[in-house]
Amino acid sequence: MDATAKRAPRPLGLLAELTHRCPLGCPYCSNPLALETRTDELDTATWTQVFRQAAALGVLQTHLSGGEPAARRDLVEITRAAHDAGLYTNLITSAVGITKETFARLSDAGLDHVQISIQDNEPGTADHIAGYKGAYKRKAALAAEVTRLGIPLTVNAVMHRANIDHVGEMVALALALGAKRVEIAHVQYYGWALKNRAQLMPTREQVDRAVRAVEALRLRHHGQIVIDAVVPDYYARFPKACVGGWGRRSLNVTPSGKVLPCHAAESIPELTFWNVREHALADIWDNSPAFLAFRGTDWMQEPCRSCPRATQDFGGCRCQAFALTGDARATDPVCHLSPHHALVGELAEIRADAAYVYRR
Ligand code: SF4
Ligand code: FES
Repeated sequence: MDATAKRAPRPLGLLAELTHRCPLGCPYCSNPLALETRTDELDTATWTQVFRQAAALGVLQTHLSGGEPAARRDLVEITRAAHDAGLYTNLITSAVGITKETFARLSDAGLDHVQISIQDNEPGTADHIAGYKGAYKRKAALAAEVTRLGIPLTVNAVMHRANIDHVGEMVALALALGAKRVEIAHVQYYGWALKNRAQLMPTREQVDRAVRAVEALRLRHHGQIVIDAVVPDYYARFPKACVGGWGRRSLNVTPSGKVLPCHAAESIPELTFWNVREHALADIWDNSPAFLAFRGTDWMQEPCRSCPRATQDFGGCRCQAFALTGDARATDPVCHLSPHHALVGELAEIRADAAYVYRR
């Protein structure tokens, strides 16, 4: 084990996947192919224990996510437990299946921040992408309620070929809804999204236009709204430091209590995950095989092993490396130094106008 791994850093963020149940059918869903069932979900008391252990481990904020977290009847109690543990609480919601009254109770329970995903600025296309009629209308109404309650709002805009030319309109919509931040997040192609890669993949020209549009929007709206955006993977020269580096900054707890280094980690078959029902979170962070597998740099192959960027991007995304090469230790093929980089360019050229395969 290398020096980085021995001095395991403390995590800052906990993604609490409260449930995999969700009313939407987004074709780019990032949840695993095999969803966990309601009967396997952790109860309120176990989540309370997880939040306390996370805070003791150094975690500062938790993202209450899903699926749709509002599918849980105890969402208010869970939010209060996270707040009482001293964590900054961010609710990541589709805003479908959640009422104004619930938001008021969540606010009273100490909810600090809300992130609502919006599929497009046009209601018709937005509902088509979400696979749910009427979703846009509900999202816009609930977003207005969040800002009325004084809870900071982030709009999450997942971009792909059908909506990437609407970046400006999405930022305008986020501003109109009172958001303080908008995330221009490009589809990540693993899990369910792999089934729709050809339907979702933007063209190089679209990506270039969107990058220029974001630069102009940042200048125009400086001081009004923060615009987070990165170049989509398949068109980048270097990969992102996925999850801030494996086992360095964050952890994920699945609905049934498995603890993962990233939300897609179960797509790597060789990994074994420990569960909060059997192990304390600190033990899992420090000693579980899945966290040790790619923490630090010892596991790397060339060209990462001798690359000066090895401790900046940590070799990119392990899940993407596995999805594209079958080897989770390979350099992320998004990197132009990867021997598999040409594959990324070839895949980006494969586009089809077939119907989406919705997540059901
Ligand atoms: Fe990052 Fe590896 Fe590419 Fe170097 S070779 S830039 S460490 S992915
Ligand atoms: Fe798993 Fe990037 S999504 S490491």
